[in-house]
Amino acid sequence: MSRQHLLLRELGLAPRWRLRHGAALELESVSMPVLAPVAANLVPAATPAQPVVAVPVVVPVAEAVPAPAVVEPATTALPDWADLQQQVASCTACGLCQTRTQAVFGKGNPRARLMLVGEAPGAEEDKLGLPFVGKAGQLLDNMLSAIGLGQDDVFIANVLKCRPPGNRNPAADEIAACADYLRWQIAHVQPEVLVTLGRFAAHALLQSDAAIGALRRETHQYQGIPLFVTFHPAYLLRSPGEKAKAWQDLLAIRRALANKA
Ligand code: URA
Repeated sequence: MSRQHLLLRELGLAPRWRLRHGAALELESVSMPVLAPVAANLVPAATPAQPVVAVPVVVPVAEAVPAPAVVEPATTALPDWADLQQQVASCTACGLCQTRTQAVFGKGNPRARLMLVGEAPGAEEDKLGLPFVGKAGQLLDNMLSAIGLGQDDVFIANVLKCRPPGNRNPAADEIAACADYLRWQIAHVQPEVLVTLGRFAAHALLQSDAAIGALRRETHQYQGIPLFVTFHPAYLLRSPGEKAKAWQDLLAIRRALANKA
């Protein structure tokens, strides 16, 4: 069994595709040309992929819909990458700084063509200081592998840099307090394609409160960068029936990268 077939099986896609469309057709469409060029096109990072740093954050416990910023950033100018990491590591802009182990800056290649944005660190991420290292992260790695992308081909960050206690949803004021960090990360990475994972990331970057199901059907723009909305891998773990839709999203992302290569 090929590596790709194994990955798709891990995603829960291989059996579904065989059942619906017939094995030959399905495996054919699955073994699309690998996007190896994504890695090849990367400019060697001027600054080596900076290991993740930590960030503190703020307060309340509420459902999050992007709200007007309630915390003024220390500066509105774009800090350099090292300063940004430092600011995140020592941030006290929201109450999450009191409960975090450490802030989670991001991981991957700061010159990547593809940047993914998740929601917030969970327990594992809080412990290790890296995003997407738990079960959802493993699924995300497999999803990226299935379209030929490895860790050096992407930069991954979260809307919130600090873990909400008990993995509760991010609160609006926490999202607002953290917004500049993500905006600055995107400004530094300057990805060719952005992908939001789940509703909090989509809502934060698109200033929308529409449902993921509606948002994922079109390509959006964030400051001129094509932005794709897809499901959060943790949601896919809970709702494996949605993996086929996520696979369609991955194919669209792969196409967008290929068209820009
Ligand atoms: N879920 C997220 O949104 N981000 C992480 O880093 C881990 C899980």
